[in-house]
Parts: sequence; structure tokens; C-alpha cells
Amino acid sequence: MIAREALARDLASARERTLRLVEIDDAELMRQYDPLMSPLVWDLAHIGWQEEMWLLRGNDARRPGLLSTEVERLYDAFAHSRASRVDLPLLPPADARAFCDTVRAKALDALDVLPAEDGTGVDPAFVFGLVVSHENQHDETMLQALSIRTGPPVLDRGAPLPPGRAGVAGTSVSVPGGPVVLGVTAADEPLSLDNERDAHVVDVPSFRIGRVPVTNGEWREFIDDGGYRESQWWSEAGWAHRCEGDLMAPKFWSAGGTRRRFGHVEDVPADEPVQHVSYFEAEAYAAWAGARLPTEMEWEKACAWDPATGSRRRFPWGASEPTAALVNLGGVALRPAPVGAYPAGASAYGAEQMLGDVWEWTTSALRPWPGFTSMLYEQYSQPFFEGAGAGDYKVLRGGAWSVAASILRPSFRNWDHPIRRQIFSGLRLAWDA
Ligand SMILES: [Fe+2]
Repeated sequence: MIAREALARDLASARERTLRLVEIDDAELMRQYDPLMSPLVWDLAHIGWQEEMWLLRGNDARRPGLLSTEVERLYDAFAHSRASRVDLPLLPPADARAFCDTVRAKALDALDVLPAEDGTGVDPAFVFGLVVSHENQHDETMLQALSIRTGPPVLDRGAPLPPGRAGVAGTSVSVPGGPVVLGVTAADEPLSLDNERDAHVVDVPSFRIGRVPVTNGEWREFIDDGGYRESQWWSEAGWAHRCEGDLMAPKFWSAGGTRRRFGHVEDVPADEPVQHVSYFEAEAYAAWAGARLPTEMEWEKACAWDPATGSRRRFPWGASEPTAALVNLGGVALRPAPVGAYPAGASAYGAEQMLGDVWEWTTSALRPWPGFTSMLYEQYSQPFFEGAGAGDYKVLRGGAWSVAASILRPSFRNWDHPIRRQIFSGLRLAWDA
């Protein structure tokens, strides 16, 4: 059963985080920093609208809500592209905040009186977990917008992180072949989303995988060796993407060896996992390094499987809840931790920083696991599956520093277009054994 107290706590911390991200002038909140991103005030009211829809209106748009039909339609993510949202007559920030407050107060009242079961076989509290996940996922999107934003910084440089360890970059661990349970059951992970289910057995052949993600220092060698100038390392589509954008380095890097991070210009730390690289760049780097990217099956095995017990671990390090000593999550650091910072967070195979720091590109397209059934939020996964016509997505795993610990599991699957690089994306290499 899902603990109601934990949900109330997670709802509060998501909201605290959202409100911290919108503590800037109204003009900034209404502005669009990039056509790839919504104005922040859109995300804010959309968070409230989706919460109202799922928790207070039973996901039925015919049931009346607090906003008029015309206004609430502005916040339907499928009705308006991100690029067009700045031109909509959006609620001003004060109205958006008040709307979110009112919805939240009613949602907490509903949580107080929620029955343990409602006869559907699904814990009625699942939808509260979905709301926590949704708000935190939008907080990450808002962080992407703030990282693209130009002008004097509105965020500080972020919370301190533990130091890294020398000697771990560029090393790998071995994962012997054999069957593994991928995905999770609703019984084991009641807050898991539809695309993480169901648990199923897959035989994953032997492979090696990077002990830690690829670092900025290693990426610099790729640049210095002409990696961006030689088509031999790139796929055909990747080379076209590289030429079209005239890419010569990860997004936000300058030619002079600095980077712009939330408006702060700083030296690029050599021992930090590289981020803001597209799938195509990651694929080219891997080819140059004599390696490849992992599949998501390999990634999940290296992260969660324990060969000693023949079972999954809840987290790479075991069953204990994530803490700041084990993993860099929650968005407060505003950057990845140096490689080797979390030896206690290693998986059974010795892979480190599988969760947190950077999203890791895999070669896998988004496909449903066997027996997939969509959850209440039917459009969460299904329209994005391979063959559904929405595009050419690649799966990313592990969550970045920007992800809330309460919504992340080794089974969590993210996906994006292979050209995207405003996301907090990096990579880990793999090799056939
Ligand atoms: Fe959304």
C-alpha cells in the first residue's frame, strides 16, 4: 500500500521546488527563452491544471473545474506546441500561483479522506504519486528553460557536492551474461509508471560497461582529436545533425574552454560527467572511443541486478532510500557530481553514479514491455512508442541531478529525440564482452 504521509511530504517538496524556480519577475516568467521551451508561467499553471484534472475531476474534462473551458484549454500540452505557448493569453503569474494554491488545498483534503481501495484493484493513492511525478518532471523542464535563458543569472551556482576520485574515469566493469528481471511489478513498486511495468525475464549476453559516465575531460580529447570534424565517427543522420547545427562541442561550451551554466560562465570541470550532448554526439564519441552505447536492457541490468541473490535491488546500492551520500538528485546542485563521488552508491557489478548526475543515452527505441497497459494518464507513454508515428525517440536512463529522488527508480524510462541537447544528457560507454 502507498503511504499517505509520504505522498503528502512529496507533494509539499515538489511544490516548494516549483515555487523556488518561479521566484523571478513576472516579465521573466512570461518570456520565452527558446522555442524549445514553454514560458515558465505556462508550466506553473499546467502543473495546477493537471493536478486538478487527475485528483479532483477524475480525469473527466466534462466535470467542471476552477478555470473556464477556454482558459484550461491553454494548458493542454497536446493542444499547443511549446513554441506557440508564448503567444497564448496565459494566466498572469499571480493568478497561476493562486490557482495552484487552491487546487493543492483541495487535493490535500481529498488525500485525507482517500479510501484504501476503491474496487478497481489499483491503489487510489497511485494518482497522487503520478501528480508528484508530473510536477517534478515539469520542474526539470523548467530547469532546462532556465539553463537556456541568457542574461544575468537568476539561480546561484548550486549546493556543494562530494569530491570525486582519481582513476575511475575511463574504467569499466564486467557484467556476465544470463537472465535478468527487467521492469517492475505494481506490487513491488506501486508508484512505478506504465512503461516500467511489468517485470519480465530477459537474457542479456555478457558485456562491459563504464564504471562511471564519460567526463568533460574525456570529451575534450574527442574534440581535440577532431571528433567533430571527421564524419567517420558519425552515423549518416548524426553527421547531418552535426553539420546542420555546425556543432563543435557540447551545448553551452565556448571555444575558449569555458561553459555557461545557468548564466554563470566558468571553466569546464574535467572530472564532471559531460552533459548537454545529443544522442548523435554520444554515438559518435562512443565510436571514436572504440566502444558503443549500451542498450537499455544492459543499462538496467548493470544498475539493478544482483547476481549473488538472483534478484533485483530496489536501488543500485541496495534497499536503503537515496541520500546525499549515495547519489546526486533533487536539483539543488545544479550540476553533475565529479566521477567517483559516490563509491557507496555502486551497483552489484561496481558501476557508479547509475542514478543521478546525468541522463544516459541508450541505443534503445521506446517500446512497451510485454503485457503493457496504459495508466490513467493514457498519453504518457503510448503515443511515443516506436511505430506510433510520433518520432524517432531514444531511451535515456538513470535520471540527472535535476530529478527528484522520490520519483526515480532503476526501472524509470525517459525518452527524447536523438538531436536534443538542452536536456541534462550524457553517456556511459559499453563494449561487447
Ligand atoms: Fe505535463
